[in-house]
Amino acid sequence: MSAIAADSLSFDAVAPHVRGRFGKPYLYEPECESTQLLLVGSGLPEGAAAATDHQTGGRGRLGRRWEEPTASSVLVSVMLHPPRERHLPELSLVAALAAAEAIEGATGLTAQIKWPNDVMLNRRKVAGILCELSDGTVVAGIGMNVNQTRDQLPLDAPTEPGSLRTLTGDTFDRAALLGSLLFRLERIYDGWRHGGLNDLYGEIGARDFLRGRRVTVDGEPATALQILRDGRLEVATGNGHGATRAIESGEVLYQR
Ligand code: BTN
Repeated sequence: MSAIAADSLSFDAVAPHVRGRFGKPYLYEPECESTQLLLVGSGLPEGAAAATDHQTGGRGRLGRRWEEPTASSVLVSVMLHPPRERHLPELSLVAALAAAEAIEGATGLTAQIKWPNDVMLNRRKVAGILCELSDGTVVAGIGMNVNQTRDQLPLDAPTEPGSLRTLTGDTFDRAALLGSLLFRLERIYDGWRHGGLNDLYGEIGARDFLRGRRVTVDGEPATALQILRDGRLEVATGNGHGATRAIESGEVLYQR
């Protein structure tokens, strides 16, 4: 058996871990440019998932690349058909909460959410979310660093990266982790569909990584106060004694 077959996100490996409607249908390519491209504009039903063991053109937020060595990560995109009345930027937080819970289930450690789309474990970024909108549907892409060694992580990432392996010393079954992620995403997304972010706020607020940290928002110094119930980030501008404002999007970097 090849290394890929022994540790892959193939249909046969993942199907036993798919417990709900998310992950059906399940598209798998051993290698592809980006799992996002397999779903955007595909017309597939909600819950369809596309996964791979290696992306040659993985997309990150703000036009960045998302890179990983083959068979090291969970790389998945999920098709969502959100109701019109919901505020779509909130989906990054919905997916981040699902990824945080899946990581907590696997590691036994508490994961945090760095607004708007990163999942942190022991102050390292272990997962990122990219949501792309097309014709009223959203493709939520989730990249999770799982079994990379330290020297396999990117050197130039704006937020210091880690993998579940570098942070715990253990390796993880990626197929089981993906099944857990899909199941949690379905449950959390259904909650959001029904009640919006307000219904998830306790879970998100409890994992707010930036709360109280000195940050820059698109280069401007500020203090992060909290993720608000509408999904925006409240910051105090200047040295922390200035006005407060709520930001909808942007690049927030924190001081280590
Ligand atoms: C970020 O932190 O900038 C977001 C990274 C999102 C990466 C995932 S991996 C699966 C899906 N396919 C992609 O090309 N990107 C997302």
